[in-house]
Amino acid sequence: MDKNIDNSAREILRTNDKGGFTVPTGGLYPYQWNWDSVFVALGFATFDELRACAEIETLFEAQWEDGMVPHIIFRRDDPDYFPGPRVWQAGDAALPTSGITQPPVAASVINDLWEQSGSEAKGRLEALFPKVLEWHRWFHRYRVPAGIDAVIITHPWESGRDNSPEWDAPSASIDVSSVEPYERRDLQHADAGMRPTKLDYDRYIALVEYGRKARWDHEKIATEGPFRVADVSMTMILLRATRDLISFAEKIGESGVQDELEGYVQQLERGASYLWDENAGTFCSRDTITGEHSGSVTNASFLCFYAGVATVEQQERLAAHWDRISAKVRYMMPSHDPDDSTFDAKRYWRGPIWQVVNYMLAKGFAECGYPAWAERIRDDSRELIAEHGFNEAFCPVTGEGSGGRDFSWTAAMWLAWLGED
Ligand code: GLC
Repeated sequence: MDKNIDNSAREILRTNDKGGFTVPTGGLYPYQWNWDSVFVALGFATFDELRACAEIETLFEAQWEDGMVPHIIFRRDDPDYFPGPRVWQAGDAALPTSGITQPPVAASVINDLWEQSGSEAKGRLEALFPKVLEWHRWFHRYRVPAGIDAVIITHPWESGRDNSPEWDAPSASIDVSSVEPYERRDLQHADAGMRPTKLDYDRYIALVEYGRKARWDHEKIATEGPFRVADVSMTMILLRATRDLISFAEKIGESGVQDELEGYVQQLERGASYLWDENAGTFCSRDTITGEHSGSVTNASFLCFYAGVATVEQQERLAAHWDRISAKVRYMMPSHDPDDSTFDAKRYWRGPIWQVVNYMLAKGFAECGYPAWAERIRDDSRELIAEHGFNEAFCPVTGEGSGGRDFSWTAAMWLAWLGED
C-alpha cells in the first residue's frame, strides 16, 4: 500500500510543479509560497535532488534588497486568488510578491539536504548560504526588537498559522472601516466552515492596505503598525534555523559569521523566555502593544523542543498539557487546545492538524528525549494520510481532511518523513 501512496505523492508534486517552483495546490493557492516551497524541497529530494535545489533557488530569486524573502511570489497573475499582486503592490515589477514574510525554515532544510546530497546539489545549496544569512539579518534588523528579543509578526499570515485564536485579541483593534470592497476567492475552492471568517479576512486586508500605504517600509510597519505580535512559532523556528545555519556554516567552511549567529541564538533564547506564560504553563504568542500573552496552548507551543529551549520545569508543565490533549483527541497534534472555547476541529488553524508542524514537533521530541511522543505523532500522521489522502489539514477528532486537496507539502512530508520504514 505504501508504494501506491509514494507514487501518488510524487504525482502530486509533479502536477503542482509549474516549472522550477511548486504551487501548494491548484485553485486555492496558485502561486509559490515561501515555507511551502522549502518543505516541498524535502519531498523532491527523495527522487530528484537537483529539482529540490531549484525549489529553494526560485524562492530566493524573489528576495528583497533589504533581505526579506516574501511569503508569496506572483510569477503570473491568476484571478483565482485574492489578494493578488495588484492589491499588494510589492516586490519588483518583474517579479511581484507579497510584502510580508513567512517562517524561515530554509536554513534547517538546506542543512539537512546538504548532508544527503551529491556534489552538484551540495554546491548549489552552498551558494544559497549568503542569501539565507541576509534573511536572518533582516529578521534581526526589523523584527527582533531589543528587550523583547522574540520575532514580531506584522500580519497573521506571516506566522503561517493564519487564523489561530492567538491572533484574536491582538486583531480586535484593527480598524476595518475603510477596507475597500473585495471578493474572496478562497470560498470557491474550499468549504466556508473550514476557512477563516469574514471578520478575519477584513482584518487581513486592512493590514495589507496599511502596508501598501506605508510602501512596505518594514521599519515603520514593525514599529508603528496596528499588529505587532511576538509569535511563538516564528521565534522557535528562527532559533532552530539559526542553530542549523551555524552548523551549515561550519560544514562548508564559512568562517567569520559564528559570533554574529551565536549572538542571534542568545537573543532568541531570551525571546523564548519573553513568550513563557507562567500562568498558563506554556510558551505562547504575546502582543507587544499590550504586553498580553495569548495564554493558548497550540501545536506551536511545543516547538520549544525543536528550538531546544525548554527548562526541566517548563517541560513538566508542557507534559501535563500533552497528556490532557492527547486524551481528548484521536490524532495528535491539534493546532489548538481542544479544551479551549475557541477550538474548532475543522477551521484551519483553530484545531486541525498540519503535517509540516507535526514534522518539526516529531524532530524536536526525538532530540529532546521524548521518543514516545515522536512516535505517536509519526504514527498518527501516517494514518491520517493513508486513510484520508493528501489534504491540506486534518480533523484531530475524526481524521477527516480539511481545506484543499492534493496538497504539495503534505505529499512532501509523506515522501521525506512518513513513507520510509
Ligand atoms: C495558508 C496556510 C499557510 C500556507 C499557505 C499555502 O495560508 O495557513 O501556512 O503557507 O496556506 O499553503
